[in-house]
Amino acid sequence: MANESTIQYGKGLDIGTVNLVAAEQNEKGEVVLRLKRNVFMDVPMDVPTKNMLTKLNVPYVVQNKRMYVLGDHAFELANVLNKPTRRPMKDGLISPKEADALGVMKLLISSILGEPRTKGEICYYSVPGDPIDSDMSVIYHKDLFDAVLKQLGYTPHHIVEGHAIVYAELAEEDFSGIGISCGGGMFNICVAYKSMPALFFSTSRGGDWIDNNVATVLGIKPAKASFIKEKGVDLMKPKTREEDAISIYYRNLINYTLTNIKERFVAAENMPSFPDPIPIVFSGGTSMAGNFIELVRAVFKEMEFPIAVKELRLASDPLNATAKGALTAALLEGAQTQS
Ligand SMILES: Nc1ncnc2c1ncn2[C@@H]1O[C@H](COP(=O)(O)OP(=O)(O)O)[C@@H](O)[C@H]1O
Ligand SMILES: [Mg+2]
Repeated sequence: MANESTIQYGKGLDIGTVNLVAAEQNEKGEVVLRLKRNVFMDVPMDVPTKNMLTKLNVPYVVQNKRMYVLGDHAFELANVLNKPTRRPMKDGLISPKEADALGVMKLLISSILGEPRTKGEICYYSVPGDPIDSDMSVIYHKDLFDAVLKQLGYTPHHIVEGHAIVYAELAEEDFSGIGISCGGGMFNICVAYKSMPALFFSTSRGGDWIDNNVATVLGIKPAKASFIKEKGVDLMKPKTREEDAISIYYRNLINYTLTNIKERFVAAENMPSFPDPIPIVFSGGTSMAGNFIELVRAVFKEMEFPIAVKELRLASDPLNATAKGALTAALLEGAQTQS
């Protein structure tokens, strides 16, 4: 029934190594997205520093007697002070080496998520699948973010990132197929059949891995490698030595990812047998490089995949797909509890 308030409560949150994205629906039913870089700088809490930040028009926050500059502002300040920025996460998980990480992430999350619009509003946040190539614990990571979201007044639920991609991008295929999020810290993969996740995992190789490797072979800084990569590279027709190196590592990463899916498919029991050929959809910042999907198709052609694939395609909105999928999960849950 239509009534005065058609707002659907529930929010989605993508907790990524490089970017944090919040998604919610407004009263017009439109999806509202807010993105913030998952980066910070700590600055001394003294008067000269406060004056400098005010002059530069850089906002800061104080927590536990420490002062922080968050998100993109941290990059600006890093340039001015010639100091490195810090990241609260590494390879998809909260960084155990960063003592300030959790407090900073709470501030960052709160700044994009805002206050709950109803008491204990549901928030679905993305978590990585278990990494197949590192022994880092996702359980610890989940517990920490459950606590952070509760402190912010939300009812937290987690969704495996690859599953969120399936929700965001595979509606036309009845949520059957493979969703892959190609992030900065990791790649997340989920095989789903009629919206149920059948298999999911992550690999701790992503955009950062490309940057670090390109930097090593060329003798440049990872930040420089990242800059060249993001400026726009044609992966199918690299024009310089730098672009060549980026393309080579991209090819290697894509091959690594597809080979891992293939091996899992062959090894796993209880895999769904798909009656129809399935789509594989790629999202995430790392999928935004020029001709990424063409390179995926070229690598795919050279391998024998264990199931019939109908299409390899790019997500409609690669940077926001995880947050949108998490929002879908939240809205579905809200609809269920109301009915
Ligand atoms: N245009 C682009 N081309 C290639 N890589 C890009 C581009 N834009 C962003 N990236 C890369 O995408 C990654 C961030 O993507 P994102 O999906 O937000 O990561 P995460 O999920 O780890 O936070 C970074 O490694 C960044 O360098
Ligand atoms: Mg991500």
